Amino acid sequence: MYTLIDGKKVASEIKREIADEVKRIIDANEKIPHLAAILVGDNGSSQTYVAHKVKDCEEVGFRSTLIRFEKDIPESDLLNKISELNTDKEIDGFIVQLPLPIHISENKVIESIDPSKDVDGFHPVNLGKMVIGLPGFLPATPYGIVELIKRYRIETGGKNCVVIGRSNIVGRPVSILLSQKGMDATVTVVHSRTKNINGIIREADIIIAALGSPSFVKAEMVKEGAVVIDVGTTRVNTPETKTGWKLTGDVDFVNVAPKCSFITPVPGGVGPMTRVSLLKNALAASKNKR
Ligand code: GUN
Repeated sequence: MYTLIDGKKVASEIKREIADEVKRIIDANEKIPHLAAILVGDNGSSQTYVAHKVKDCEEVGFRSTLIRFEKDIPESDLLNKISELNTDKEIDGFIVQLPLPIHISENKVIESIDPSKDVDGFHPVNLGKMVIGLPGFLPATPYGIVELIKRYRIETGGKNCVVIGRSNIVGRPVSILLSQKGMDATVTVVHSRTKNINGIIREADIIIAALGSPSFVKAEMVKEGAVVIDVGTTRVNTPETKTGWKLTGDVDFVNVAPKCSFITPVPGGVGPMTRVSLLKNALAASKNKR
């Protein structure tokens, strides 16, 4: 019988801890953490993500500011807004929701954010600090995954961990965190050009599926007793829901779960942990400034 990793429950515990800290901040008459988010255009998933971030801030007592631009905003206007936020003493940290329209360089945007306000942990300075194990902001999803693994006391030392996907915001950074001293996993990153991908995944004690392909991981690819962390959140059309779609993970949950020791559901696994990790980074940003 497998243990279902309840990201929703863990995230609400952490949110409560953050809310308590905000109460203490208010009692001490210190500055309340203030997170800003920039949203460009009208991508449906991005609107949902940003709305969640604002709601999360309200729930723990942070201030939040949402800045919206039309999808045809010139890159220079966006960069100007970022430099304003960089020097705005009221704002402790901010994020620019990705993806951006194609006429805007995501790299240029990310590099223009002051690393001390880069609560997404996407700036090369923060990623560099992560690589060499210095304190900095960790990207929210990898940070949330590591926290889940720790809170469920899942052993990683010497374990074979296979990360499926090499994105800058999930696969690559989580592979680095899991191989670091303290986590001590032996990590393999597999991707679209990997040979014998099924054979490699079948050797894994821990599978992190972060490729964005619904139900990619099938039961025959999973070793008996494996730990499976599903990062996929693809919207798949269905007549079953009011919205006409449902979030679907990268793991064929129904068939894979019976082989696992631990597994995350979608939704309710990694997603809530990603959201709460951003709050933790925002709290840390405001602490660093105090
Ligand atoms: N798009 C998908 N995930 C993220 C995230 O964590 N942060 C930002 N800024 N954009 C995203």
